[in-house]
Amino acid sequence: MHHQNKTLIPRRTVLLGLLGLIGITPSAIAKIQNLPQRQWQKYQQYQHRDFSVDRNISLGQRAADRGLVYGAAVRQPAMSSDENLAQVVAQECNIIVPEWELKWDCLRPSPTTFDFSPADWIANFAQTNGLLMRGHTLVWHDALPSWFEPLINSQNARPLFLEHIHKVVSRYAGKIHSWDVVNEAINVPDGNLDGLRSTPWLKFLGKDYIELAFRVAADADPHALLFYNDYDLDYDIPEADAKRTAVLKLLTDLKSKGTPIHGLGIQAHLTGTETRFNPQKFTTFLAQVANLGLKIMITEMDVIDQGLPREPDIRDRIVAGIYEDYLVAVLSEKAVIGILNWGISDRHTWIAEFFPRQDGTTVRPLPFDRNYNPKLAWNAIARAIDFKSSKPFN
Ligand code: XIL
Repeated sequence: MHHQNKTLIPRRTVLLGLLGLIGITPSAIAKIQNLPQRQWQKYQQYQHRDFSVDRNISLGQRAADRGLVYGAAVRQPAMSSDENLAQVVAQECNIIVPEWELKWDCLRPSPTTFDFSPADWIANFAQTNGLLMRGHTLVWHDALPSWFEPLINSQNARPLFLEHIHKVVSRYAGKIHSWDVVNEAINVPDGNLDGLRSTPWLKFLGKDYIELAFRVAADADPHALLFYNDYDLDYDIPEADAKRTAVLKLLTDLKSKGTPIHGLGIQAHLTGTETRFNPQKFTTFLAQVANLGLKIMITEMDVIDQGLPREPDIRDRIVAGIYEDYLVAVLSEKAVIGILNWGISDRHTWIAEFFPRQDGTTVRPLPFDRNYNPKLAWNAIARAIDFKSSKPFN
């Protein structure tokens, strides 16, 4: 059976290639692939879009011209072993964020020790190259070390929590543009009051753990912008409605208590096959967040290309179209201060592991391909940033 699958895939590729040669359009190819009508229409629209870009300057420079920051998440092992990666990051970004190095399971090899060396390496790279740095993340239900669960209880949870935030934020005080203080604390389906996610912190510290985290972080670094960061806020679907409502309530409550919170981070791991992005509805949400006096950043953007057509040219156009539509909407809101991708090159992306393609082809969720050539997604980001200057509605 395995063997059969292998022979089918090339045969279909050859067929599609031949259809292309005899002048059958990409949209017709999409139709042959038997897609739902809405998806097909969207894909087709992107095949005809003009993704041209003016001026030969990096995304970081473009962003700076608009008073924004642009950047990417990086991993220390890849950065120190792959010169091309380090070079493209230094060239394109004006801000970076460690993808793993500031999470508990990296920083905390044991309950009593800290290992700051990988995060220090990244902080040093940022400083050497004149880049800003974000911190990600102090409080999360995930990426906890293996010693955590057996050890944590209602006695030690609070001191452990306070010590961690204080120690980590203090170490990088003055060097961090913004911290994701709390990550992914809302999960409405868990059924808790106010949509709070069931986490060890909620269990042992109670619902005020979020406010507490921000207060401790502000104390340790009064200059960093302090963010609440979350995902699945993007689409016009009931689950996202519920999540946006809960996040807005959380932010409203925090602000009303005088909590030192300065922004909302929107992860924006977008789904390539999802057609229900509603710019009006989404920008209304952004305006509600802005009305609380908060800044907004897109903190982890990528476009998951699982389920999109196999041909890279067709796929890249869809991914690029999704980037452009999303970012044009986002950047129409004045409270948005920056955009980060979760990685910069398809060579190093969590999507390869977490959302691989069924056909086994390389995932293409980021602005640069595996060989560090810019893709149309790069153009799309550049176009959305450039468009911000000519916005008629802001
Ligand atoms: C991911 C990393 O990219 C992976 O390498 C890691 O194994 C799991 O975490 N939301 C977040 C990020 O806030 O921290 C996650 O990063 C991706 C989803």
